[in-house]
Amino acid sequence: MYIHWLDSLCCPHCHGALSVYGGQVSDSGKLNEGGLACGACSRVFPVSEGIARFVADDDPVTEEESWKRSERRKRDEEAAVYDSMFTGYRNAVECQTILRQLRPKSQDRIVEIGAGTGRITAAYAARVKSILAVDFSYDSLRVIAQRLERSPVDLCLVQADASLLPIRTGSFSKAVSAQVLEHLPGSMERANAIGEFSRILRPGGTLVITVYYYSPEKRLRHRRQPSDRTMKEGSHSDGAIYFYNFGYGELKRLLNGHIKVDRMRGILQERPYLERFGRLGMAIERIVQTTPLSLFAAHMLLARAHRGPVDADRSKRAKALVCE
Ligand SMILES: C[S@@+](CC[C@H](N)C(=O)[O-])C[C@H]1O[C@@H](n2cnc3c(N)ncnc32)[C@H](O)[C@@H]1O
Ligand SMILES: [Zn+2]
Repeated sequence: MYIHWLDSLCCPHCHGALSVYGGQVSDSGKLNEGGLACGACSRVFPVSEGIARFVADDDPVTEEESWKRSERRKRDEEAAVYDSMFTGYRNAVECQTILRQLRPKSQDRIVEIGAGTGRITAAYAARVKSILAVDFSYDSLRVIAQRLERSPVDLCLVQADASLLPIRTGSFSKAVSAQVLEHLPGSMERANAIGEFSRILRPGGTLVITVYYYSPEKRLRHRRQPSDRTMKEGSHSDGAIYFYNFGYGELKRLLNGHIKVDRMRGILQERPYLERFGRLGMAIERIVQTTPLSLFAAHMLLARAHRGPVDADRSKRAKALVCE
């Protein structure tokens, strides 16, 4: 990591400033192996292979921690093959839709939470000067490093938990998170994560997220023939990864508790023939996305929101609601 990124990072526990603690900073300002120390609480966080690491390997105590540990291990295991799990069509639809909503510009400071192996990151890296990519899977972050090795983008890789971000308040103009929120185990974890996504944005900054959608069609299928794919909540990948399907109103309420929702739409219509149609299918998908029809049979919801000036109060209100 380049140490100028310390201006955007902080201790995830107390938000204290970080400084280099051990290790050798190169003439170009790079720290590959060493540590970062919090000036306020004195905790030390390692840096290995240029990745700043804020996830401890303590034994899980709560059910939520067990789920997170289990997912993290699975994502590490799958990092080398993760991209092959997406068809070209699904990948193209999701990346293009996200880009249309994110509208990355060269002066943007972009943070991606749950960046995984960089499937989405690679789609916008050429348009911006700097990216902070966060994930709790170390091996996935190593794949991003390889993927963008030749890219001129100023990339900072951080291993951290989405609901406890080591990022300074108000330091990014845009945040993106694709298919991550549905894997956070429990309503408190999800609310904390959205609170964090909002906190790290500048006032007026944009958030774009995609999540699994509990569409009316999925509910109907569940009534007719329940299966793992139609459950509201469950696990996949041999039980290693928790997931939660969001209802439309549910996601909107969750987001609006912290940040202002501008638009929500259904993406990736569950109609296999669209994929067979190729480019024509993509054009139909794009048109459907602009209509309420997109909300009947979509696999995912995409939301775009922006941080307003009153979000600190909104976050407090949302936390109080979750606790009730
Ligand atoms: C379905 S993958 C999506 C990866 C990438 N965004 C994409 O669309 O290709 C979910 C990612 O979220 C990460 N993730 C899940 N829970 C997380 C958490 N609590 N903190 C940080 N990352 C998390 C996983 O490690 C994984 O890389
Ligand atoms: Zn601290």
